[in-house]
Amino acid sequence: MTRRVTSRLVADAAGVAEAARILAGGGLVAIPTETVYGLAADATNARAVAGIYAAKSRPAFNPLIAHLPGAAAAMEHGLFDDVARRLAQAFWPGPLTLVVPVAAGSPICDLARAGLATVGLRVPAHPVARALLTAVGLPLAAPSANRSGHVSPTSADHVLSDLDGMIDAVLDAGPCEVGVESTIVACLHEGPRILRPGGIPREAIAACLGDGAVLAAMSEADAEDRDDPPLAPGMLASHYAPNARLRLDAAAPQAGEAWLGFGPDPVAAMETTARFNLSPSGDLLEAAANLFSGLRTLDRTGVDRIAVAAIPADGLGEAIRDRLARAAAPR
Ligand code: TXA
Ligand code: MG
Repeated sequence: MTRRVTSRLVADAAGVAEAARILAGGGLVAIPTETVYGLAADATNARAVAGIYAAKSRPAFNPLIAHLPGAAAAMEHGLFDDVARRLAQAFWPGPLTLVVPVAAGSPICDLARAGLATVGLRVPAHPVARALLTAVGLPLAAPSANRSGHVSPTSADHVLSDLDGMIDAVLDAGPCEVGVESTIVACLHEGPRILRPGGIPREAIAACLGDGAVLAAMSEADAEDRDDPPLAPGMLASHYAPNARLRLDAAAPQAGEAWLGFGPDPVAAMETTARFNLSPSGDLLEAAANLFSGLRTLDRTGVDRIAVAAIPADGLGEAIRDRLARAAAPR
C-alpha cells in the first residue's frame, strides 16, 4: 500500500479547514471525538473508504459508523422508528451510535456499510468533530483510528504510533474525554438491542425507553472484542449475501455464469453480458471500492451463478477474499 506523509494539524480554525480540504479530496484524517480518535474518510467515496480498511490492515470489511453534524443530517441517511427518534433526541450529540435501515438514496457507499441494508449513524459531541463535520458537509465514515487488533486511541500520539505513514493527517485536539467507544444500539424491526456497550450506560438507554424495552445484548465475550463485535448471523441479517451462487478463483466463466473480474478479463468473459470488473488494472484498493456494487450489479441481472476471478491474498485482498468466501458459503 502507498505510504503517506502524515501531518499533525492543530485543531484550530485553520487546522479544521485543512482537515476538511483533505477529506473532501478523498484523503484520510484521524479526528478527535469525545470517545476515541476516529480514522475518517468521505463515506460517500468508496475508494476513500477502501483506504480506511487498508490503513487499519483490517482483514475483513466491518461496517463503519457514519458521523454527521446533527440529528437532522443523520436522519437523511436512515429510517428512524419511534424508538430511534427517542434515543437520538435524548443522547445526540453524544457517544451513541444508532444502527437503522439505510434510507433509499443515501449516498453513503456500500463499502462503508459492508454491503448491509443498515447503517450505523453517530452525531459526536466533540466541538472539533462537529466543526469539522459542518465544514466538510459530507458524512464521514470513521472507525477507531487504531491498527486492527490494537486498542482504540485516545490521543494523537496513540494514533501516530499505530498509523504514522498510513494516513494523511491527524487533527490533534488533545486527549478524549470519554475514552471508551460509543454505545451501539440497533433499532431494527425486532426492537432495540445494544450491540456494544460504550459511553452511554445501558441504564440510561433503558431509562429513556422504559423498562423491558431493550432486548438482551450480545454475550459479554462477544462484546469484549471491541474491534470486531461478531453480530450473530441471522439475528441482524448482518452479512450481505447475493442470491446468485459464487464460484471463486475461477479462470474464466462457464456457460450460464456471470463474471466478476479482476485484472484483464479472459476471452470467455467477453461473451457474457453479465460481467463486472472490480479493477481491470488489478488494483486492490479499487477492487475493494467496487466489491459490493459489483456483486449487486451482477445479482440484479438475475443470474444463478457468478464466477469470480482469483484475487491475490495480500493487502486488501485478504478482506476481499474473506467477504467473497462468506458470500459463497452455502445457505
Ligand atoms: O465511539 C465510537 O463509536 C468510535 C468513534 C470514532 O466514533 N468509532 C468506533 O468505530 O468505535 P469502530 O469501527 O471501531 O466500531 C464500530 C462498530 C463496528 O464493529 C461495527 O461492527 C459496528 O460498529 N457497526 C457499524 N455499522 C453497523 C451496522 N450497520 N450493523 C451492525 N454493526 C455496525
Ligand atoms: Mg474499533
